[in-house]
Amino acid sequence: MILITGGAGYIGSHVTLKLLEESNQKIIVFDSLENGHISTVEKLKSVRDFDFVKGDLKNPNDLEVLFQNFDIDSVIHFAAYIRVEESVQNPRKYYSNNLVGTINLLNKMLDYSVKKIVFSSTAAVYGEPKYVPIDENHPKQPINPYGKTKFMVEEILDDYDKAYGLKSIRLRYFNVAGADSKNRIGESHDPETHLIPNILASAANSEKVFNLFGNDYATRDGTCVRDYVNIEDLASAHISALKYLDKENKSDCFNIGTKNGNTVKEVFGVCEKVTSKKIKIRVNPRRDGDPESLVADNTKAEKVLNWKSSMTLNDSVRTAYNWIKK
Ligand code: UFG
Repeated sequence: MILITGGAGYIGSHVTLKLLEESNQKIIVFDSLENGHISTVEKLKSVRDFDFVKGDLKNPNDLEVLFQNFDIDSVIHFAAYIRVEESVQNPRKYYSNNLVGTINLLNKMLDYSVKKIVFSSTAAVYGEPKYVPIDENHPKQPINPYGKTKFMVEEILDDYDKAYGLKSIRLRYFNVAGADSKNRIGESHDPETHLIPNILASAANSEKVFNLFGNDYATRDGTCVRDYVNIEDLASAHISALKYLDKENKSDCFNIGTKNGNTVKEVFGVCEKVTSKKIKIRVNPRRDGDPESLVADNTKAEKVLNWKSSMTLNDSVRTAYNWIKK
């Protein structure tokens, strides 16, 4: 049985959906529902039934009950807070949940001899890029508590492998975008801080102005460059990672991106095209902590995991817009 923590959230739910559709593995989703949605769980259950437990990683007893009651043999761990800016203002929240919560989970895995985990890591572990595209050997100097918690967990995973043989695949996501192409589930954060949902919210509501942060970067049009990877492609990367763990029983880390960067203005252009709307835009000063350019060198994932990103930015915007309209 596969335990999916944070399976009611944006990325977790899309990976759960893929596993429900493409495997016959038993699944248990564990989510506090603080940011995840029960409506998402219900939607997923209509695809194929699975177990759902409401609980909190910060509460070791919730984990004890979980591991006692279910025969878990591998874990995909998504549950985490994800807002960089909030992590700077309230690091305690991030260290308690993303770090201590994860240590609670790893220790419980050891107690029950569960030795395989796929961990949601992030491009934020690299900090300010020294070069792009970024490969996995790029220096790891996270510049905010969010990125630090993810990097610390990666380090702990290394130590737990050496000492206890716990095998992990760390997937370092770049900018994840889009929704289920059948429009059953999608992205809904509150507050929403991500670029594409924010542009599309302005497309859906002509009163709402889209706020662009910074047009004075040293990029081709002055706005930040990001590597937008489609959520369904990202979900496939997790399936590949699980297979790799089962087959090779080896720990490793992989960048999950597309090798292509798009500026904020380019993304805005794609959104106007896909929605056929003229979207109101206001240029604001730079947002604190935004690196100029983040693009993944994903060669390693292609070679070792045999994974490829196949969907375009256009696909991500189209599916995200279908979801927003619904
Ligand atoms: N942006 C805007 N306006 C908005 C939202 C974003 O101009 O309303 C710009 C940002 O300034 C940035 C780019 O769009 O230049 C992308 O911003 P996102 O917030 O969508 O994504 P980030 O690159 O900041 O964040 C991504 C993930 C986060 C993760 C972070 C770690 O989406 O979940 O990387 O580095 F925490």
